[in-house]
Amino acid sequence: MSLIELRSIGKTYQSAGLDVEVLKNVSLRIKEGEYVSIIGPSGAGKSTLMTIMGCLGLPSQGIYILDGEEVGQVSDRELSRIRNEKIGFVFQAFHLLPGVTAIDNVMMPLLYSDKVPKDAKQRAQAVLEKVMLGHRLTHTPGQLSGGEQQRVTIARSLINNPKILLADEPTGNLDSKNGVEIMKTFDRLNQEGTTIILITHDQEVALHAQRILTIKDGQIESDQWNENFQKSQAGPARSGVE
Ligand SMILES: Nc1ncnc2c1ncn2[C@@H]1O[C@H](COP(=O)(O)OP(=O)(O)O)[C@@H](O)[C@H]1O
Ligand SMILES: [Mg+2]
Repeated sequence: MSLIELRSIGKTYQSAGLDVEVLKNVSLRIKEGEYVSIIGPSGAGKSTLMTIMGCLGLPSQGIYILDGEEVGQVSDRELSRIRNEKIGFVFQAFHLLPGVTAIDNVMMPLLYSDKVPKDAKQRAQAVLEKVMLGHRLTHTPGQLSGGEQQRVTIARSLINNPKILLADEPTGNLDSKNGVEIMKTFDRLNQEGTTIILITHDQEVALHAQRILTIKDGQIESDQWNENFQKSQAGPARSGVE
């Protein structure tokens, strides 16, 4: 079964009284454990596709089935529940609270839920350790490098133990050294079983994934397996993905 299934998805925005068709007839299946990059020029519709896959917005046409649930049929409240439960987001900008420790920044999504879990702090520490920041728990963003700050946001995205990590240009604000550090983190998380969908316009970054989708003018132009993907790194979660 696919974790993500898009069937003939279209998205049209109204802008100054005109319809602008941003996604056209996009069909796509992604299985649990896959590592997919979505590449394409600026304006191609990558971020729009991410907002639909991330349940941040609904498509204008087509059907989206996420983990067996048809997303278009649910209320806003349900949609945000699905989002919080299943998806972690990483963006180009870090959106960390300044002057607040890494562990408190990572705990933030738990503080918004109706009942704050008793083990919130332990969970935050565990995900920070997962991104190799166990030694930076009480540092504030200003005391961390760009790569470390982005790893704090990755930890924050993992706090609800999502099945899918959606990252939109996660290395866009980083120099190449820090970018490499972030990509190693994604590689490792995928090896541990997290499904990763990575949006980028950087070919080097895209080559970390096992599967590379190219988007152009709102359509999938190509969908290819990356022959250079390190098969030896493949964890058990990847078996069955052919
Ligand atoms: N909310 C919006 N209203 C109108 N047009 C939009 C909106 N969001 C994106 N667009 C347009 O949709 C196209 C694709 O945007 P986007 O998905 O952000 O592309 P990418 O992430 O590939 O650069 C662009 O032409 C953009 O201007
Ligand atoms: Mg974009």
